[in-house]
Amino acid sequence: MRNKLVAGNWKMHGSLVANLALLTRIKEAATGFKSACAVCVPFPYLAQAQAALAGSKVAWGAQNVSEHAQGAYTGEVSAVMLAEFACRYVLVGHSERRALYGESDTVVAAKFAAALQAGLTPILCVGETVAEREAGITGAVVARQLDAVVVNSGVAALKHAVLAYEPVWAIGTGKTATAQQAQDVHALLRGRVAGGDARVAQALQILYGGSVKPGNAQELFAMPDIDGGLIGGAALVAEDFLAICHAA
Ligand code: PGA
Repeated sequence: MRNKLVAGNWKMHGSLVANLALLTRIKEAATGFKSACAVCVPFPYLAQAQAALAGSKVAWGAQNVSEHAQGAYTGEVSAVMLAEFACRYVLVGHSERRALYGESDTVVAAKFAAALQAGLTPILCVGETVAEREAGITGAVVARQLDAVVVNSGVAALKHAVLAYEPVWAIGTGKTATAQQAQDVHALLRGRVAGGDARVAQALQILYGGSVKPGNAQELFAMPDIDGGLIGGAALVAEDFLAICHAA
C-alpha cells in the first residue's frame, strides 16, 4: 500500500509575515496527519520554511531547479543549493514552467536528473492542455513527458521520485478533472512505468493536481491510483490545505 502525500505549490505567492502564520498552522496540525505533507515555496523563503518546519512532520521544497550544477547561469539555482536548505522535494516540469518559460521535455529530464543527483526527490509534473484532451491525445502527451525522463534517467530512478498528473485545463481554473478522468490517466501512467519495472510502478506515488479543494479531495484520493495531491490555490489558505491533508 502506498502512503499518500499532499504537497502545496505556493507558486509566486507569500511574504515573510504571511508565510510564518501559514507554516506555523500547518506544522501544528501535522502532528495529526496520517499522510505525508510538504510545501514547495519560492526560493527566498526556503530558509524560513526550514527554520519553521525542521523537526516537524512537514517537508519543504522548491518549485524549480537548474539543470546545471554550477556556473555562469545568471538567475538560476542549483540542486545542491536546494539541498543545503534541507529541501526534500523539488517540482520539475510544472506546466507553467513548460508553457511560460519554454521548458522542453529534454530540459525537464535534465532538471529531474540534477535533482536526483543532489539527493532531492523530484516531483515530475505532466499533463495535457485542453486542446490536446479534445484532440484525444492526452495519453500520448503524458506518455511523451514521462518517457523523456525515463529514457534519460532510467526507470529505476522513479524509485526516488514522485509523479504528478496535472491537466493544464484544471490548474487554477476551478475545473477539476473528475475522479474517474484523473484515475484513468494515473492508471495509464502507472501502466507505462510497469512496462519498464512492475515493482517501481507499484511503489510510485502519483499525485493529482488541478483545482483540488476540500470539497473534491476525498473523492479524488479514494481512487486506487491517486496517491495524494499537488495543491496550488488551496495551499495558501490554511483551513483549505489542512482539510485536504486530512482528506488524505
Ligand atoms: P491549483 O494549482 O490547485 O491552483 O489548480 C495546482 C498546481 O498548479 O500545482
